[in-house]
Amino acid sequence: MGLDVEAIKKAVPSCSFYYFDQIDSTNSWLLDNGSCGDICLSETQNKGRGRRGNHWLSPNTGNIYLSLCWCFNEIPKHWTLLGLVVGIAIAEALADIGLENHGIKWPNDIFWKQKKLGGILIETKDQSGKVIIGIGINKMMPSEYIKKIGQAATSLDEALPTSISREKIITEIVLNLQKHLQKFLTLNLDHFFILWQKWDVLFEEIVSFHYQGREIIGKVVEIDQQGRLGVLENSGRINYFSSIDIKVRRHEVANAIS
Ligand code: BTN
Repeated sequence: MGLDVEAIKKAVPSCSFYYFDQIDSTNSWLLDNGSCGDICLSETQNKGRGRRGNHWLSPNTGNIYLSLCWCFNEIPKHWTLLGLVVGIAIAEALADIGLENHGIKWPNDIFWKQKKLGGILIETKDQSGKVIIGIGINKMMPSEYIKKIGQAATSLDEALPTSISREKIITEIVLNLQKHLQKFLTLNLDHFFILWQKWDVLFEEIVSFHYQGREIIGKVVEIDQQGRLGVLENSGRINYFSSIDIKVRRHEVANAIS
């Protein structure tokens, strides 16, 4: 069934909505056509895009493919934390609709019980302070598609104790996102770190990833003020890595590092 966009609009009157049955990508559409406050929704995307140039599988109706065009009056000081703050906003909204046992896998994948539930792609066109925030959440993804995702994945219909409408989920996400974005220019770092710790699923986990031709294995100990992942390596040093450079995963072998 299609989305009742009017119901969402009623709850979020500050935004203009553009809703498609099919589109290449809601992010691409807003990059070309979006004004501040616009929201683009589509039932399917044939060129859905993920982070690091990945494809975002968007084959069937019933999921959430949403992009918001947001304009900051000035370039945010903590720009590199934006994706993490968006992740926090989504995690909170999902908790408000009754989801439990979920969190954020750095930098901003939404996870439920070690399976990916959703992702965030933030893009800009110029230096104007206008950003496109793309959110993909599996809500009703058939198992044949889940298998194609290329990593352990799940849908909200599996994760939620009772079924909740997409209209309600989208409304909660957009309202909470707006709340966080309105405060982003004056982000209180102490408060941000407290929220991050609450949702961070990698804290104190052993992770591994490739960086500059070598495999790094270490324990996640913190993120820094730029949102980089702080990893304690066997050498005893904490090194910091940007999400542009690495794709991190939980390390398979337990106790690889003490
Ligand atoms: C990721 O985890 O790699 C990020 C995925 C982001 C997917 C969403 S779906 C809506 C918006 N439109 C896109 O083409 N991508 C984002």
